[in-house]
Amino acid sequence: MQQLVRNVKIIGTGSYVPETIYTNEYLETILETNSQWVIDNVGIKERHIAAPNQATSDLATIAGERAIKDAGLTSHDIDLIIVATATPDRKAPSTAAFVQHKLDARNAAAFDMNAVCSGFLFAMSVASQFIASGVYNHVLVIGADTFSRITDWSRRDAVFFGDGAGAAVLSSANVTEGFLAYRIYTDTTNEMLGFTIPGGGSEIPLTHDNMSEQFFQMNGKAVFSSATKALPKAIFQVLEDTGLTINDIDLMIPHQPSIRILQKTAEIIGLPFDKVMTNMDKYANTSGGTIPILLDEVNRAGKLKKGSTILFAAVGSGWTYGASIIKWG
Ligand SMILES: CC(C)(COP(=O)(O)OP(=O)(O)OC[C@H]1O[C@@H](n2cnc3c(N)ncnc32)[C@H](O)[C@@H]1OP(=O)(O)O)[C@@H](O)C(=O)NCCC(=O)NCCS
Repeated sequence: MQQLVRNVKIIGTGSYVPETIYTNEYLETILETNSQWVIDNVGIKERHIAAPNQATSDLATIAGERAIKDAGLTSHDIDLIIVATATPDRKAPSTAAFVQHKLDARNAAAFDMNAVCSGFLFAMSVASQFIASGVYNHVLVIGADTFSRITDWSRRDAVFFGDGAGAAVLSSANVTEGFLAYRIYTDTTNEMLGFTIPGGGSEIPLTHDNMSEQFFQMNGKAVFSSATKALPKAIFQVLEDTGLTINDIDLMIPHQPSIRILQKTAEIIGLPFDKVMTNMDKYANTSGGTIPILLDEVNRAGKLKKGSTILFAAVGSGWTYGASIIKWG
């Protein structure tokens, strides 16, 4: 593997899920499903749903604020904000620009990344390049989604997703040397909405009347088959890159598609399931939010010890997929 200029680490985590909860039992009353089937086959008991006045950036901003606080920084210390989302507030400006504005992170460039359920993992790896190369010192990476806005609540697929956001501050303790000189800017202080494409996102959602294709569509069998091939492939590759074996992994913090996908993956890679962290029972699949929400929970529970070897892995629409290994410090 190519040697990075500086090591990159996570110095703060945060998360936020909205207050409203839809239980499986509630969904039984509005669509054709069965709570026990969902628990047994998917591992989900309930999911959190954004309030009508909460856009993706509202969830992301709270998670980001918490991660910055956990890192012992202020929003002015953040050089770059990357928001991984498939459900942006609007088509323009980016959700990251709204987050920059709401956090008053006035020194941060900000942009979105869309790799759907792999988004946070992709965004972490992009953020790492900026820090490793010395361009930036503190990057706020956020995974946030509000799939409730693109869910057809009359269909049984509605059981799979929930809304939520998680965040991490990536940083390096080393002094920066050797810039190759490039920079980007984001300025939200003047006529922020001077050019905007307001409709079609989570802030002004389309309705059944104008476009039924706004809702997500899922072929469960295809997801299962792709995920259980993609995840092991990426995990075996990062193990080979690092010269580690699966026995060296202390904890796995994966995307949360369904319990069966994770059980099958753990079986293929030979990782005892008690090392696989899950929280889909409480939040369902929050897409870009799954890994950072789980990371924050595991962090707050004190399970991340200095020197622990943590495995991240994700798969999403496309299919995007990936894995990474971090030594916690
Ligand atoms: C969803 C999954 C468990 C379904 O398993 P499957 O064997 O493919 O199931 P099928 O779609 O053929 O359905 C089999 C039976 O399960 C039941 N079922 C399927 N979906 C259901 C739901 N949402 N609620 C209740 N019962 C359901 C039905 O009884 C169905 O019988 P029917 O076809 O006569 O209606 C499986 O495909 C899976 O885990 N896929 C991954 C999905 C995922 O992770 N998505 C999130 C990331 S995008």
